[in-house]
Amino acid sequence: MDKFIIRGGKPLRGTIATGGSKNAALPILIASLLTDEPCVVRGVPRLRDIVTTLRLLEFLGKRVVQDETSVRIYSRKGLKTQAPYDLVKQMRASVLVAGPLLARFGGVRVPLPGGCAIGLRPIDLHLKGFEQMGAKVSLEKGDAVMSAGRLHAARIALRFASVGATENLLMAASLLERGTTIENAAREPEIADLAVFLRSMGAQIEGEGTGRICVRGRRVLRGAEHNVIADRIEAGTFLIACAATRGSVFLQGARPGHLRNVLKKLQEAGCKVQASSAGIGLSAAGRPNPVDITTRPYPGFPTDLQAPWMALMSLAKGQSMIRERIFEKRFLHAGELARLGARLSVDGDMVCTDGVGKFSGAMVMASDIRAGAALLVAGLAAGGKTEISRIYHIDRGYEAVEKKLRRLGADIIRVKS
Ligand code: UD1
Repeated sequence: MDKFIIRGGKPLRGTIATGGSKNAALPILIASLLTDEPCVVRGVPRLRDIVTTLRLLEFLGKRVVQDETSVRIYSRKGLKTQAPYDLVKQMRASVLVAGPLLARFGGVRVPLPGGCAIGLRPIDLHLKGFEQMGAKVSLEKGDAVMSAGRLHAARIALRFASVGATENLLMAASLLERGTTIENAAREPEIADLAVFLRSMGAQIEGEGTGRICVRGRRVLRGAEHNVIADRIEAGTFLIACAATRGSVFLQGARPGHLRNVLKKLQEAGCKVQASSAGIGLSAAGRPNPVDITTRPYPGFPTDLQAPWMALMSLAKGQSMIRERIFEKRFLHAGELARLGARLSVDGDMVCTDGVGKFSGAMVMASDIRAGAALLVAGLAAGGKTEISRIYHIDRGYEAVEKKLRRLGADIIRVKS
């Protein structure tokens, strides 16, 4: 298992390009299951979760050709309608194959993904939505088995604005000619990007990016080409790392409109932010001001930046509160940050940080993608040597992160062990 070794305390400085969005690329690649025609997806980051998705598509019967940044997906003979457990347990987003396969073939079998490091993460909202579209859902040997002669259009109101459920239902509805409405839909930019792709395939979609999405699909969708949006979470992580190291960076291609809430919080923390259509610049001098956050569905503060934010606030000039409202167990990084010197107390869904002047390097362990990102932020700011193990978690979500950080002047190496 690889490790990162960081000799911290150097401000990040310079310009890098923002990668393509992992969370947009995953459902868009999976949406290729809706057609037999070729699809081309550009700007796909080279990440472990993408490799898992491409393996899943190949398992189901697609032929996949990947070059530096684009993926071409072709059809072979037929498609399987059963996803394998070993891929689903590696990546929960695998459950997104359910919508396209159920809508196309009238049946699908998907292993329940089970719990994960950040909480239970059930898929009941996905399943309930399919039931409202006419599917029968049963549980057999740990798999959700869904069948429907043909799905029908429906008006579905989600109990919670789930990203994955919105995507799954949106893909299924794209093959139904009568209009489906998803109320309390998730509004994340990755969903809007998926809607753009589905529209290029022939579906009529309105309201993406709002809480009410209306879809009028087609029985047969065509192939499409698409450029994935920039990764707002990768960009946010680099901005927070820049703030923690008191540096100055410019992130080409980062979309300010997708990070409005985060940029506002960074400004409150004392950072200078320059946002334009070319990207986002940030510079920071001195310790950050303490700034409270509560994670919420988009456009609120993203849960995927909560852990890096905690690393930053652990260095602030005073106390701040962090409240996690999306996942019930997303504070595993708190204990690791404490090993670097952070003063934190966890109380239910809340963490109170009492900022310290400096972190000092230590051996720490990543427990999920974003917890790993928090340790990167902290290690880059810490004096001395920080060694992060289990970085396969970080590799799931951040493409060539050590190369990008080195380009910004960080002293970080990957060690094979
Ligand atoms: C997606 C993102 C992830 C991000 C999350 C929230 C991808 C691949 N992943 O995950 O990075 O952290 O959105 O922004 O895009 N829930 C239920 N029942 C369901 C579905 C969800 O109770 O059927 C709950 C979950 O347990 C969780 C909350 O809803 O507490 C949010 O989950 P959801 O929005 O579905 O997140 P994901 O799509 O899994």
